Amino acid sequence: RTTLTAAVALATAIAGPALANDELREYANELFEPIPLSTPDLDGNMVTRQRVDLGAMLFFDPRMSRSGLFSCQSCHNVGTGGVDGLETSIGHGWQAGPRNSPTVFNAVFNIAQFWDGRAADLAEQAVGPVQAGVEMNNTPERVIDTLNSMQAYVDAFAEAFPGEDDPVTFDNFALAIEAFEATLTTPNSRFDQFLMGADTLDEQELAGLEAFIDQGCAACHAGVNMGGQDYYPFGLVERPGADVLPEGDRGRFAVTETAMDDYVFRAAPLRNIELTAPYFHSGVVWELEEAVAVMGVAQLGADLSEQEISDIAAFLRTLTGEIPEVVHPVLPPRTADTPLPEP
Ligand code: HEM
Ligand code: HEM
Repeated sequence: RTTLTAAVALATAIAGPALANDELREYANELFEPIPLSTPDLDGNMVTRQRVDLGAMLFFDPRMSRSGLFSCQSCHNVGTGGVDGLETSIGHGWQAGPRNSPTVFNAVFNIAQFWDGRAADLAEQAVGPVQAGVEMNNTPERVIDTLNSMQAYVDAFAEAFPGEDDPVTFDNFALAIEAFEATLTTPNSRFDQFLMGADTLDEQELAGLEAFIDQGCAACHAGVNMGGQDYYPFGLVERPGADVLPEGDRGRFAVTETAMDDYVFRAAPLRNIELTAPYFHSGVVWELEEAVAVMGVAQLGADLSEQEISDIAAFLRTLTGEIPEVVHPVLPPRTADTPLPEP
């Protein structure tokens, strides 16, 4: 935190002529970190091939929802940036949920999950949507009955959780999905290559990076995920209008019930941001340039020029990494014991 603030202050003090490539790279390396090329380790979970493969089946299987229609993939489509591209997600009974769906790509690097950080990790997160009335509207018991009705699932759980007497549990369901999600990382973006020493950014993108640091964006959007690490009031300097920041969603206030957390949200991770429109938890902003302008006013009290906005947006588009190619698993056929879809 101290080095981060110092680096921002230093970079701000030097503002003026554009920094030489290597100087800028040095500052950037103080603030940001490339996404590792290999799958990260998890606390309290093993990323084995068996767990990942089972997790992929569960992620793609719509029978995990009561209606038989919604899977994790419905709202976190791994072919479209890990999001559904809707303002707010549509779930069970065609209900619109209250928030925009964040990407599952690189979610493993976030300090906690959801716009308000109310789930500690991906395993804790995964048990939420299955039970949420507006998402999959299922119960843990019905999920377990569904899994036990298909021998291929029973076998896959036994292989993923060897030595356990009764491996088909809701906790193991969550651990398998977490292991699969840990593989959904997007390394080697042009920006990461720049951090590692390659000259992959053009003049405008370099100017955008410099502005991102100088203007203070990096104070909140830093680290490996360019965000996702800490919480701030949305509207730190000037609260956006109720269209962008609906009054009914008070963010972390609902989690901690302390006045300080009113309208506080996790600084959104900005990796692959060009793929994940629309923006903000309300999902009302479709243009990246507009999102940058909103941030300037709301978080920094800065009326960014058109040039700065377009430079920063150009820089943010260099954060798109290599998207993992996910093979859609073949799912086991239902049996007479599989619970039928319910409206
Ligand atoms: C949030 C995974 C099902 C909509 C998240 C996050 C993850 C995730 C990892 C947090 C990302 C972050 O905070 O950066 C999953 C998995 C699912 C699933 C593994 C299946 C078990 C669904 C479905 C929908 C949905 C079916 C839509 C109907 C959302 C929304 C959020 C979210 C709207 C943000 C909620 C909030 O912040 O309050 N999901 N998801 N998800 N997901 Fe899902
Ligand atoms: C969200 C960029 C400054 C905290 C976002 C988003 C973008 C962005 C594009 C939307 C991400 C998405 O919807 O997936 C920028 C830029 C900045 C800047 C370019 C500088 C001009 C800041 C600062 C802070 C901050 C200084 C903290 C004081 C947040 C928070 C969110 C967010 C809390 C989530 C808002 C929500 O709940 O919808 N930022 N940001 N940002 N940023 Fe920034």
